[in-house]
Amino acid sequence: MNQRMTRLGGLLAAYQRRDPAARSKLEIFLLYPGVHAVLWHRLAHWLFVHRWKFLARLVSQWSRFWTGIEIHPGAVLGHRLVIDHGMGVVIGETAEVGDDCLIYQGVTLGGTGKDKGKRHPTLGNNVLVGCGAKVLGPFRVGDNARIAAGAVVLREVPPNCTAVGVPAQIVRVKGEAVYFADDVDQTSVSNPTLERIAALGERIADLEKKLNLYEKPIHTVEEYDDYVI
Ligand SMILES: CC(C)(COP(=O)(O)OP(=O)(O)OC[C@H]1O[C@@H](n2cnc3c(N)ncnc32)[C@H](O)[C@@H]1OP(=O)(O)O)[C@@H](O)C(=O)NCCC(=O)NCCS
Repeated sequence: MNQRMTRLGGLLAAYQRRDPAARSKLEIFLLYPGVHAVLWHRLAHWLFVHRWKFLARLVSQWSRFWTGIEIHPGAVLGHRLVIDHGMGVVIGETAEVGDDCLIYQGVTLGGTGKDKGKRHPTLGNNVLVGCGAKVLGPFRVGDNARIAAGAVVLREVPPNCTAVGVPAQIVRVKGEAVYFADDVDQTSVSNPTLERIAALGERIADLEKKLNLYEKPIHTVEEYDDYVI
């Protein structure tokens, strides 16, 4: 019980930290749909893992009705998850969310419809997913990553990166801008024809060396070794 209260206290404190508009913990507890959705999900998930799947789904749909946030009972949520505003958030059955994540309204952690088994993404710790972003597929979004509002993420996002756009591209790594075009070396491109000619030259030199050996008489064991090689 004590541990549960501490966890709830941590959750409410996370809202105070993340939402400048949040005032007292009591207000957050009573009025924030994200808090209610996470608390209902704890019950739904418990029922789900104890194989009360219909009841689990019932609780999840009840929660969706009151909060506008749909979390499948099978989803695994970390500690201190803040779902700000919340309306329209969908979290799929095999999604996993790490600790200290922040998710805004309209976010989908969903599947593409192409995968079986694990179909939904895994968010690391301290991940931000901006409003309306869609993260689709069974890949990982690394710790401290930021998904921009409105992005559609279809591939893994490494830790400490910012992904932006449709389909999402990495535009920041540890806060530094990335310009992938600058990394392409367009001046010292290797010439495959010259490489092939050089390889043939080496082969001819090797064969000439061997022919010279055949023409010499053998006097010592070392010379014989050279001959058979
Ligand atoms: C992506 C975000 C988290 C900022 O992350 P960041 O690492 O600080 O990135 P920056 O602000 O430096 O922006 C990086 C680049 O992405 C662009 N960008 C930022 N957000 C973007 C978005 N949602 N869509 C498209 N491009 C975006 C910036 O213009 C910048 O472009 P540049 O490289 O040409 O300068 C933030 O812009 C965002 O989308 N937050 C979500 C907030 C939200 O959902 N609020 C809802 C409140 S109700």
